[in-house]
Amino acid sequence: SDRVMLGPLVGAIDQGTSSTRFLVFNAKTAELLSHHQVEIKQKFPKEGWVEQDPKEILQSVYECMEKTCEKLSQLGIDIANIKAVGVSNQRETTVVWDKMTGDPLYNAIVWLDLRTQSTVERLINRTPGKNKNHLKHRTGLPISTYFSAVKLRWLMDNVEEVRRAISSGRAMFGTIDSWLIWSLTGGKNGGVHCTDVTNASRTMLFNINTLDWDPELCQFFDIPMKILPKVRSSSEIYGLMKSGSLTGVPISGCLGDQSAALVGQMCFQDGLAKNTYGTGCFLLYNTGQKPVMSEHGLLTTVAYKLGRDKPAFYALEGSVAIAGAVVCWLKDNLGIIQSAGDVEKLAALVGTSYGCYFVPAFSGLYAPYWEPSARGIICGLTQFTNRSHLAFAALEAVCFQTREILDAMNRDSGIPLAQLQVDGGMTSNKLLMQLQADILCIPVVKPSMPETTALGAAMAAGAAEGVRVWSLDPKDLTAVTCERFEPQINPEESELRYARWKKAVLKAMDWETS
Ligand code: G3P
Repeated sequence: SDRVMLGPLVGAIDQGTSSTRFLVFNAKTAELLSHHQVEIKQKFPKEGWVEQDPKEILQSVYECMEKTCEKLSQLGIDIANIKAVGVSNQRETTVVWDKMTGDPLYNAIVWLDLRTQSTVERLINRTPGKNKNHLKHRTGLPISTYFSAVKLRWLMDNVEEVRRAISSGRAMFGTIDSWLIWSLTGGKNGGVHCTDVTNASRTMLFNINTLDWDPELCQFFDIPMKILPKVRSSSEIYGLMKSGSLTGVPISGCLGDQSAALVGQMCFQDGLAKNTYGTGCFLLYNTGQKPVMSEHGLLTTVAYKLGRDKPAFYALEGSVAIAGAVVCWLKDNLGIIQSAGDVEKLAALVGTSYGCYFVPAFSGLYAPYWEPSARGIICGLTQFTNRSHLAFAALEAVCFQTREILDAMNRDSGIPLAQLQVDGGMTSNKLLMQLQADILCIPVVKPSMPETTALGAAMAAGAAEGVRVWSLDPKDLTAVTCERFEPQINPEESELRYARWKKAVLKAMDWETS
């Protein structure tokens, strides 16, 4: 027969903010064999609101799995070789569903959503000294619209169906990983209601020191603990797939997408870091087996726990809400590009912003400011400014925001990063990568296989006890080839531009309340 002989394979679901993907890797070589991608609709029902349909998300996962399996069969690869599936997902996005019907009780409230701004203000006002960092020693997080607890609080305060389902014992809460694992393992017919430590650490209900739900945090937000999923490690068998072509395959890896990218970039040691350019932009710095609290506006988060008996590793995180999303905005809201990929050409036409600065604070500003009332601004315009300058300024904004979180990271750790490992969709933009190296004044290093998020989830799934087809021993890990971008402009010019950016940020702050 013309069957291709391969060793064990591992699949990964990568459910991001803008799209869902399913990818299949060779467990021995980490080679990507096939994949399929489906876009996800974002709904903006009111100014500042961002929702998605949980059913559409689930459907997109099934579609990606089926299409990838078809492609593998066409390549002569037997899908029976897929020994495990891992899940990586957009974090914080909140779903509440009815466990009897299997139906969501409201749309998913996406991490970027700002509807909880007044809830957040009310909660902060209740803390001693009106301190947004009041819960930070337990959660690693400031009280902000970003995290799940306030979204869940909003659902309980505003959606009658959610309230009723909770009081009748039918409600289940989860982030996207929980919703998917519960649905894929059987849903209303015995689905497994769980999450992993990395996703749990983004809810604000989870104590990152004890690695469990915290009754006092639940009390603070007034959230009943019975609706929470069980917290598991990032690498163990949670359950088996109950329908579709992969029926019977264990789901044995689960990581929030930013943690998954850290694993996929092999940042297993304290001091290693990566920056992922997706819808937002997230720089994670491995601090080893102890949580380090930031003095400079970064988050402390669980990086991974690769097995029930393995230790948890922690990371400092710099989160930027808007990165790839600003390119979508140029396309969908201004119509100055036809497709996201066109931004590089448009910006390259001028190769400068000509003094134009664009702070895309569409969802307030995240790290290091945590200022929900910031709003986007474009400044420094003249008669001369055109759309190419605007496109350039948008790309530069992504780089300046990364510079701000890298600076904070360097101050917290005391040891400046010598180079930055990057990944994610936007890293195919060479102009952006060069600009990033120029603005950071350090080299930017990009692996030739850009799907590090999916790779991380596949590694966790393949290494799980009871699967064990993937070795996480550093000496067995496949060497990655990389592309390097060296800084090319002089540091003085870089500093000058960065100083201007900071001035623009000041103008974007406190916009809504001023
Ligand atoms: O915290 C949100 C993050 O997990 C979303 O990632 O890649 O969809 O921007 P991404």
